[in-house]
Amino acid sequence: MGDSHYFSTVPAKRRRVGTVELRVGDLDVELSTDRGVFAAGEVDWGTRYLLAEAPRPPRTGPLLDLGCGYGPIAVALSRWAPQAPLWAVDINPRALELCRANLDRHGGKAATTCLPDEVPSEVCFAAIYSNPPIRIGKAALYEMLAAWLEKLTEEGRAYFVVNKHLGSDSLARWLKEQGHPTTRLRSRRGYRILEVQARSL
Ligand SMILES: C[S@@+](CC[C@H](N)C(=O)[O-])C[C@H]1O[C@@H](n2cnc3c(N)ncnc32)[C@H](O)[C@@H]1O
Repeated sequence: MGDSHYFSTVPAKRRRVGTVELRVGDLDVELSTDRGVFAAGEVDWGTRYLLAEAPRPPRTGPLLDLGCGYGPIAVALSRWAPQAPLWAVDINPRALELCRANLDRHGGKAATTCLPDEVPSEVCFAAIYSNPPIRIGKAALYEMLAAWLEKLTEEGRAYFVVNKHLGSDSLARWLKEQGHPTTRLRSRRGYRILEVQARSL
């Protein structure tokens, strides 16, 4: 049997603990990784692009890292907005364990790491950041994004990094059709950074 996919809820049992370096802007930190999580060998280029190019998080939050993996986005958000309540969610328990450890190590002790369903329903977000799990399939992805976008505050913004080959442009079209003003903020190497607003009521 091969390794399970990074988006599996039950990662491969065998472990291969490692470290990667996250360098973006003023941030230079070492993060723990393991087999069975996304981008275990190196912080994903799209993730680094998102962190380098998307606007910095609002200082007061609340903030969401949707599909946090081992936490490169969560750690960056917690460093840039240390007072903001931060939620880092994933369905992969190993990813959550690593994200928790990386947040603890790099000062994000106020952040909460949990399964998506464990975020209290009343919490709304001033900003959502995500390198979303495209490989779960279009229907599941759209359903997931739509649900979380309902939790944006009126003035809130979501920032998604998605490759053109993995459907960024059709996602942007679909978001607009759903009533979410959506802008392509940046584009490089086929990666688009989308800025998405709450639906106007
Ligand atoms: C492309 S990876 C990004 C991971 C991390 N944010 C990074 O940039 O390295 C997407 C993550 O979404 C997680 N995921 C998959 N389905 C999910 C769901 N329904 N809700 C939340 N996270 C999910 C996967 O386990 C994976 O860790």
